[in-house]
This record gives sequence, structure tokens and C-alpha cells, in this order.
Amino acid sequence: MSTVITYGTFDLLHQGHINLLRRAKALGDTLIVGVTSDSYDKERGKLNVRQSLTERLDAVKATGFADKIIVEEYEGQKIHDIQTYHVDTFVLGDDWKGKCDYLKEYCDVVYLERTKDISSTLLRQGNQIITFGIVGTGRIAARFVKESYFVSGMEVVAAYNPHIESAKKFSTDYAIEYCTDDFDAFLTRCDAVYIASPHQHHFEQTMACLRAGKHVLCEKPLCFTTEEAEGAYRYAKEHSLALLHGVKTAYCPGFEHLVLLAKSGRIGEIVAVDASFTKLVNPDTRELRNDGFGGSTYELSPYPALAIAKLIGTSSDRMEFFPMFRDGVDIFDRIIVSRGAKSSSMKVGLGAKTEGDLVVTGTEGYLYAEAPWWKTSYFEMRFENQNKTRKYYFPYDGDGLRYEILEIVNMIKSETSESPKLNEQESVFMTRVIEGFTAYREKAFQACP
Ligand code: CTP
Repeated sequence: MSTVITYGTFDLLHQGHINLLRRAKALGDTLIVGVTSDSYDKERGKLNVRQSLTERLDAVKATGFADKIIVEEYEGQKIHDIQTYHVDTFVLGDDWKGKCDYLKEYCDVVYLERTKDISSTLLRQGNQIITFGIVGTGRIAARFVKESYFVSGMEVVAAYNPHIESAKKFSTDYAIEYCTDDFDAFLTRCDAVYIASPHQHHFEQTMACLRAGKHVLCEKPLCFTTEEAEGAYRYAKEHSLALLHGVKTAYCPGFEHLVLLAKSGRIGEIVAVDASFTKLVNPDTRELRNDGFGGSTYELSPYPALAIAKLIGTSSDRMEFFPMFRDGVDIFDRIIVSRGAKSSSMKVGLGAKTEGDLVVTGTEGYLYAEAPWWKTSYFEMRFENQNKTRKYYFPYDGDGLRYEILEIVNMIKSETSESPKLNEQESVFMTRVIEGFTAYREKAFQACP
């Protein structure tokens, strides 16, 4: 009896996979197929997988070639599997040639010729590339272009800036084929738009793009009033367009996992969330400009508000602001949000510094994500008994923007308007914080002119 083993993602199972499995099976008596888990794929940088692990397992099973199917969850598992199942032959397609020779110490290693002209990547692209235009050509737009190289199925093809010289420089620097200072002309060039302009233009430009039938990924804050936020989401849904609020933490694997773990009940009932985000900036920068759109709360509160919305919920009966102003701009703010007996806090600062961590308090334990928690790559689950502490590590590649780009690309391809990773209610909650702060500030300035 000889045993053969092979591994793969097997996303959108295709003829190449079937050929490989058939030929692998023919090399022995028993075939074991390892299917990669969702988290292992993300960890090794394979971000675009369309089907869930369950769907992929079912598809491999349906081929009828596998005698046993296992899940591959971590790097280094192959040696363990080969030893556990007494494997004689390890098989992969020849796109892996040489890369698994280290296994020759344990069994025969065979690379089979890959079937030509088919792959999951090609199927995922469906031969359709989504074209993106960028509104605003500042620092974050540059990061977006660099991060977009990691997401397949999309391409940045146009850039808009009302100052044509800036648009031209950006498109030259980042090899973007079209640039303009004419917004209408810009809209004719792309399927989807990334809005990275100054805050005060976000809502108006989001609506203009939606009205032109474009999908939108808008940097935070999406807008300044809940009425605007609800209007934008309503319009997107009615017209089957994707609308995504660009708060990158929402889409990063570590934060998603933290939320799931907290919700699983492992730390008991969640009673409070305390999150801080401070970033000292030069007083001359846009973020601290006294133009009515700068300041710590507008700039940073969407991040801790995201944590509260996800972990505690989006309804609250009190929201209190404790800002410190310098030259008319809040350089620091502490915001308390409560619903009944449950209260949560956010600290945000562009002109004051504190520990940027996140604590999720539960009745049986707590989650602690160290700074910078908004790029969640490491957190701990802690209990009264310190021996029970669990540590979690996740990838957070590059600037983290690739995860939100991937999310909007997947939304467009699957024709969904709203993402469960940051849905309308959660986005509106973030806007409610901003709206509450605006009202507080107006009152405060009226009281002391
Ligand atoms: N395979 C093959 N012929 C193809 C595609 C894949 O023989 N045309 C093999 C791979 O070499 C691997 C196995 O099928 O041994 C599973 O590969 P997987 O990575 O799941 O498939 P791909 O189509 O290559 O996926 P992707 O495009 O996401 O890399």
C-alpha cells in the first residue's frame, strides 16, 4: 500500500486541479489532499481566495479522487503530515518545482506538469479588471497605488486633482495612464473610485461618484452628518453600487479575529471597550488646520469608534466629549459613549500623546491589543489566572490598505453594496461621533467667543 499526499487552496476548483488530483492518485493506492485554511492562506499572502474552506473541501471531495482530506493550517505542517500518515510520495504542480525539495528527506517528491492556461487567479479575475480612479493625490493616495499592486483583478487607471500640476506629477510618479482636473471627464474613465481628498469634499464627491454609477471607497470620515451617511448608503443600495468606508482596521485580519474571539464568549459578556489613537503631527499640517475640518476627533475617532461599534454595538444613549482646544482645533479629546450601565471610551490626539492600546473588558477576562492596535498584528486574551493567557499573532502587510482594497474588489465582483466588515450602522455610528463633536464644539465656541 503506498500513500500519496498533495496540497493546495483549490479555490474555484478547475480542470487543472482535477488533472493534478487524478494523476496524483494514479501514483499510489491512497491519496491524501491537504486543503489550506482561510487563515493560513491570508498568512502566506494569498488574499484573494473566493471560496470558504468548507466550500473548497466540498469541491475536492466531489472530485472523488481523495481518500482522505485534511486541512493545512500552518507552515511546517507538511513534515508532520508526511510522518503521521506514513506518506511515500509528495506531489505538487511544477509551478512549485524545487520549492519542496526539503521534503525529500522524508519521502519521494514529484512535481507534475501544470495544466496550461487555467488557474484560480484567472478564474477570479473572470477576465474582468476593475478600473479604479483616485480623487486627491496626496500621501495616502500614493500608498493606495503601492498597495493596489498586491490585489489582483483591479488596476488604478486615472487620477483627479483640481490642481492639474499635482495630478500630472502623481500620474508620472506612479505610472497612471490618465490624469485630469476635470471631475466629469475623470468619472468616465473608471468603474470605481477611491476618494482621498480633503475631508470637506468626501461626501459631495462620494455622491457625485455614486450618481455617475461608480463604486466608492471613501477615506474616513465619509461625511459629517448621519443624514448624509444614511443618504449615501441608501443611494448605493438602491443602485446596487458598493460603498465602503475606508477605515483600514476594519478589514485587517488581526482585528477581524479579535472581534470574533471577543464575540465568541471566551471573555464572558463584553462590558466596556477602551481604545486610544494618538499621533503627534506638525502643527502646520492639514490635520491641525483651523478650517473647521481638522482636529483629533475628525481625524482619528473613526478608529476607536469602529472598535466600540463592533464590540459593544452601535446604539448609545449618551455621548460626552472632553476636548482640549489649541487655536480653535481639538488637539486631544476623550469621548465617553454609554448605553445603560455599559460605558466605553476613546482617546484621540494629534497634539498629545498617550498609549495607543485597546482593552476589551469582559466578565470573565479581557482582550489586550498593544499599540498600534489599529494595525492589529498581536493581541492577548488574559484572565485572572495568568497561566491561561493566550497570545495571537496575525499578518499586517505593508500599509494595511491592501485589505480594504481587496474588500471593495470582492464586493464589486460579488455585487454587494455593503460590507459586513464595516456595515452601514457601524459607519453611521462613526459619523454620529463626529456629528456629536461638531455640536459640542459649536456650543463651546458660542459660550466663549
Ligand atoms: N495546478 C495545476 N494546474 C493548474 C493549476 C493548479 O496542476 N493549471 C496545481 C498546482 O500546481 C497545485 C494544485 O493544483 O499543485 C493546487 O493549486 P492551487 O494553488 O490551489 O491552484 P491555482 O489555480 O494555481 O491557484 P492560484 O491561481 O490561486 O495560485
